[in-house]
Amino acid sequence: ESTLAAAAQQSGRYFGTAIAAGKLGDQAYTTIANREFDMITAENEMKIDATEPNRGQFNFSAGDRIYNWAVQNGKRVRGHTLAWHNQQPGWMQSLSGGNLRQAMIDHINGVMGHYRGKIYAWDVVNEAYADGNSGGRRDSNLQRTGNDWIEVAFRTARAADPSAKLCYNDYNIDNWSWAKTQGVYNMVRDFKQRGVPIDCVGLQSHFNSNSPYNSNYRTTIQSFAALGVDVQITELDIQGGSATTYANVVNDCLAVPRCTGVTVWGVRDTDSWLGSGASALLFDGNGNKKAAYNSVLNALNNA
Ligand code: G3I
Repeated sequence: ESTLAAAAQQSGRYFGTAIAAGKLGDQAYTTIANREFDMITAENEMKIDATEPNRGQFNFSAGDRIYNWAVQNGKRVRGHTLAWHNQQPGWMQSLSGGNLRQAMIDHINGVMGHYRGKIYAWDVVNEAYADGNSGGRRDSNLQRTGNDWIEVAFRTARAADPSAKLCYNDYNIDNWSWAKTQGVYNMVRDFKQRGVPIDCVGLQSHFNSNSPYNSNYRTTIQSFAALGVDVQITELDIQGGSATTYANVVNDCLAVPRCTGVTVWGVRDTDSWLGSGASALLFDGNGNKKAAYNSVLNALNNA
């Protein structure tokens, strides 16, 4: 096959990208995105600050532009993200305790209700674990509402849209030897044991010199999958753009049946949140395929 999406479909997987609504008028951008990818994540437009700028007043205009573009072009959509310490609107940042807990529940119901039946998987909770060696939760206004906030978010989400897969999504949980990975693994194991609804784990997979790809990545994917959840690579980018590392990441997903797809976090290097100098994506600023693109396509075709 000659595109990432078609090549991934050979093994029943998807290959996705993050899309910015402000770029949907850029024809070079949409041409590549439409040709190569079959799963779409809104880079910012379905986040809390975008969808509920004032408490109880929802705004889906930018999110819907991305959703409609995706569906009109035959693609599925991952929802990103419902409960997160970052990109909270000011009104939410100022809440605490029971007020904030209720606002989180209302937000999940409002956004998932709008997209009910339309989303492949939602990143219900994003980045709730601490960096460093504690293996524990990140301190945040959400965490201070009580340690059960994550399971409350997942139970709320299941009721709001029973057709969406419900994911926990985080970065630096790709290296199996890291405490953060083990912390999330223990949470998912506990949720499965106690019947808290969770269907998938998103490994963001932002790789750089401080958090490089490690060959134990496949062990991480296999270990989460063995708990009975799907695994998705949700925000892949690799600083420096190593073709070998890109192939390793994709081959590790392909080796695990429950690793259901890969999403790269942007189309061209110039679209990356890291800036074009990071050379972290699969297409250069002129829309040319990079060596990393060819190595990913080969890996998918050889699965
Ligand atoms: O939209 C405003 C614009 O009006 C304003 O002029 C401009 C000036 O700074 O800012 C624009 O907003 C920026 C927004 O991206 C859209 O470009 C924000 O400042 C900027 O903070 C925001 O960055 C996003 C970041 O999440 C925020 O947390 C990145 O685009 C987005 O790629 C990044 O994505 C995250 C995932 O959601 C979660 N995992 C990590 C990943 C990378 O940080």
